[in-house]
Amino acid sequence: MKLSGAVLLLAPLAFSQPKPPAFDMAAVERGRVQFKSSCGFCHADDATGNRAPDLIRSALLSHDVNGDMLAPVIKNGRPEKDMPAFSTLSDKTIADMVAFLHKQAYDAMHSAGVPNDYPLAKLLTGNAADGKAYFNGAGGCSGCHSPIGDLAGVAKRYGPVALQQRFLYPSRGVKITATVTLRDGRKMEGVVVHGDEFEIAITGADGWYHSWKRSEVNVVIHDPMAAHQALMEKYTDKDMHDLFAYLETLQ
Ligand code: HEC
Ligand code: HEC
Repeated sequence: MKLSGAVLLLAPLAFSQPKPPAFDMAAVERGRVQFKSSCGFCHADDATGNRAPDLIRSALLSHDVNGDMLAPVIKNGRPEKDMPAFSTLSDKTIADMVAFLHKQAYDAMHSAGVPNDYPLAKLLTGNAADGKAYFNGAGGCSGCHSPIGDLAGVAKRYGPVALQQRFLYPSRGVKITATVTLRDGRKMEGVVVHGDEFEIAITGADGWYHSWKRSEVNVVIHDPMAAHQALMEKYTDKDMHDLFAYLETLQ
């Protein structure tokens, strides 16, 4: 049936819902051992930092895709800042360590049930006043949120780790919709079940399903989370920690 075929095609879409990443656990475990022996002395065995910075909260890690940001730093180091170069490690070993770091970050973000793993003091390194300025200014957050409206008491509703996760990856039940304008000018609106450069398919409130060739209609996609995704690429490490410190004041 058409619908199930279309649903299977959702995965590669830019506007499909985010899924939890699939980790290659064998690589993660190899990476854990390797990280401990090569990096643990400075970054701590669990990568939360001691002599050298916490890598789990690093903006570099959150922006990394399959090592594109991390691998060059590991290979070349930052000699002027006491991060040694590991130029002799194989690409495979580095890939394993990258897998380990992503798994550590994912676990930290999703371990709201074990707050002792990730004390608030460690997360609260930002400046709340700067965070507030960013919220109302450059961050554009106030365009959609209000500290006395939807975000009132948000720090009471979520523990610190959950709050950080909510503001970085808020996707709870948010639906991507589209308005499709037909050639005769009729407009139809619904939840997107499939969309690519050739086709768009939506379901309406009453459950009807319809698809069109992209070339035959005019499509406007409404993705409520697009702003958050764009923000993820814009945040600096400081913005992120300042915002978080500010959100924590919304008790
Ligand atoms: C001798 C101590 C030392 C060792 C060993 C070490 N690092 Fe580092 N590392 C540092 C320091 C110090 C920095 C901070 C550099 C800076 O401020 O830019 C750093 C920074 C980094 C960063 C960049 C973080 C960011 O957010 O910019 C990454 C990634 C990293 N290290 C990964 C590793 C990995 C992986 C290993 C093991 C293969 C390793 N490091 C081993 C000291 C070390
Ligand atoms: C274009 C609109 C828009 C902008 C801009 C925006 N957000 Fe959001 N935000 C949303 C939507 C939509 C949700 C999802 C609400 C839900 O999950 O129910 C959300 C969810 C959140 C949540 C989770 C709230 C909860 O109760 O779970 C936080 C925290 C948050 N945003 C913080 C921010 C911050 C900080 C900024 C600015 C850096 C920002 N948002 C910018 C639309 C926006």
